[in-house]
Amino acid sequence: MKKHQHHAETEAVRGGTDLHKKNGPLATPIYQTSTFEVTDSDQQVRATSTDMFYTRYGNPTHTVAEKAIAELEGADAALLFASGMNAITTSILSLLKSGDHVVAQRDIYGGATKFFSQWLPKLGIETTFVDTVEYDQHARAIQPNTKLLYLESPTNPVLRVVDLRKVTALARQHNLITFIDSTFATPINQRPADFGIDLIMHSGTKYYAGHADLICGIVAGRKDLITTIHETRTTLGGTMDPHAAWLLLRGIKTLAVRVQRQNDNALRVAQFLAQHARVRRVHYPFVEGHPQRPLAMEQMQGGGGVLSFEVDGSGEDARQLSEALHLFTLAPSLGGVESLVTIPVLTSHGMISPEHRQKMGVTEQLIRLSVGIENADDLIADLEQALTVVTGTHQHAQVG
Ligand SMILES: Cc1ncc(COP(=O)(O)O)c(C=O)c1O
Repeated sequence: MKKHQHHAETEAVRGGTDLHKKNGPLATPIYQTSTFEVTDSDQQVRATSTDMFYTRYGNPTHTVAEKAIAELEGADAALLFASGMNAITTSILSLLKSGDHVVAQRDIYGGATKFFSQWLPKLGIETTFVDTVEYDQHARAIQPNTKLLYLESPTNPVLRVVDLRKVTALARQHNLITFIDSTFATPINQRPADFGIDLIMHSGTKYYAGHADLICGIVAGRKDLITTIHETRTTLGGTMDPHAAWLLLRGIKTLAVRVQRQNDNALRVAQFLAQHARVRRVHYPFVEGHPQRPLAMEQMQGGGGVLSFEVDGSGEDARQLSEALHLFTLAPSLGGVESLVTIPVLTSHGMISPEHRQKMGVTEQLIRLSVGIENADDLIADLEQALTVVTGTHQHAQVG
C-alpha cells in the first residue's frame, strides 16, 4: 500500500486537505446536503461517480476525512460508515457469498461475534472461531472455501496482541483476505497496512472521534476491496451524516496528541494496579512482565488507553469498585478524552455466552478502564480510594 510522506502527528493535522489551495476556508466546510444541483444532463451523468451526486454515495466532507484516514493508516483508500458495526457488516457482506467460510479469532468485539455466529449462517456463510494467539489453530481451521481471516488486536477487553507478521504470512499462503479491527490501537500506535493487512477497520466512535459525541465506522485498505465495499455501502445505505463526519475530522486533528497522552496515562495506571494487593491480574501489553510485551513493543508505538484488571474478590466487589470511582465515569465505550470504567460481563460481552466468555478470560471480576487525558496522579488516587472496597488481598498481581 501507500508510503507515508510525513509522520503520524503531521498527517493527523494536515491529512486530507489540499495544501496548494489558496483563499479557501482553513476548516473544511460541512456539506450538509443530501443532494447536489447540476446545470444540465451531461453534468448529471458526470456527477454520478463523484462525491457531489447524492450523499448516500459520498460527500465532499466525507472525502476529506477519508483521505486523512487513508494517509494515517498508510492505506490506498478509506471509507466512512454510520457505525463501527456497520463498517464490519457492510464489508463482510460485500466480500463474501453463500458457501464461503471465515476463520475468526475468538477475542473479537461482541457485536462481531454475534454477526458471525448468528447472522452469517442464515446466508450460508460459516465461521470457525480459533484461539486468538494459537496460530496453528488458525492454520488447521482453514478450508478450501475459506475466504477471510478476521482479526482484532489488541483485543477487547483482555488486550491480547496478535502477531501481525504471522497472520499475514498464513493468509498469503492460503490466498485469504485479512481484515483487522484496529480500534484499540489507533493508527498512532499501530499501522496494520505496513504489515500487509488488507483491510483495517475502526469503530471511529472511539479514538478517531475522541470526544464521545458521535458514532461512526471506518474501513481503510486495498483500493480494489475498498471500491467493492463502497458499492455495497451505497446499496445497504450505512453512510455517515456529513455533520458527524466533520466532527470526526476535527477529532482526527488531535488524535496523535490525545493518544500519546493516553498511552502515558494508561501505562502509569497499569503499573500502579500491577503492584496493588487487591488486584489479582492486570492486562496491559506494555507493562513490565507482560508475556506479550516484546511483541507489542515491536509492532506498536504505544499500548493505548484501554486496560483491564481483575479484582481479588467477587463480581460484587468489582461492581462496588466501579461505582466508588469518581473520575472514571461508569459508562460503556472507550477512546474519549474522559476516563471511563465498565464491567465487560455487564456491557460489551453481555451478549456472549458464558462458555465463550470463559475461553476469552472475561470473568465477573474483570473491570475495563478507558484512560482519558486527565492527570495520571489524579486517576491513580481515585483508583486507590476505590480499591478499598475490595475485600481480598494478594501479594502481587499477575500481569497478562
Ligand atoms: C473493538 C470494537 N470494535 C467494534 C465496535 C463497534 O463499533 P460501534 O459501536 O461504533 O458500532 C466496538 C464498540 O464498542 C469496539 O469496541
